[in-house]
Amino acid sequence: MITSSIVAVDGTAASGKGTLASRIAQHLNFAYLDTGILYRAVGYSVIKNGHKFDTQTAAIDAARELKIENLKNIDLRSEEIGRAASIAASIPLVRKTLIAFQKKFASAPPNEKLGAVLDGRDIGTVICPDADWKIYVDADICVRARRRVKELRERGVDAIYSRILRNMRERDTRDMSRSISPLAPAKDAFVLDTTFLDADSAFAIALDYISS
Ligand code: CDP
Repeated sequence: MITSSIVAVDGTAASGKGTLASRIAQHLNFAYLDTGILYRAVGYSVIKNGHKFDTQTAAIDAARELKIENLKNIDLRSEEIGRAASIAASIPLVRKTLIAFQKKFASAPPNEKLGAVLDGRDIGTVICPDADWKIYVDADICVRARRRVKELRERGVDAIYSRILRNMRERDTRDMSRSISPLAPAKDAFVLDTTFLDADSAFAIALDYISS
């Protein structure tokens, strides 16, 4: 039986968890999975096909039909898709459908890597409760909203701070209060507050934790 080493990185939107997780993966030569992309793809599919979330069927079907190789050329990083992802992510059958893929990625990482880094909202609590390392990344919501505005503007998207802040607050509340796999630090997670940290400092602290 192959046992891979797993780093679980969870946290709030724009807390820096994605950047941190991909840098850790690169450093350790582990495979990396941004699990938010799966939920974003489901949200995208519902919007693209003109469906609404008033019934759950479209989202559940989209999760069942999801093929990761079809996601490569689609820009899923918009705020609209983020919102749709968070609505889809609160549907129990959508989450249940996406579990197997994530667990398989963690236990048998692609390209014969010896380990995997997964980032999301429930990696340390539900997907990989036995992960070797668990990091929960958070930051003050105003700082996170400013980061998201900067990220969107750098991509040429016209972003308004007050609107981004409102969306982020709404998304945090939904993610933290849903009945299934709500966003919360695992009991044994190392909590990393990046409010006053740049990406390099956050990475250095995370590496200290991993090597300790
Ligand atoms: O990058 P950002 O943190 O803004 O979002 P993301 O990680 O791409 O996740 C988008 C949405 O998907 C989140 O707001 C969650 O509702 C949902 N999600 C989840 O429920 N569980 C995960 N493991 C990953 C994402």
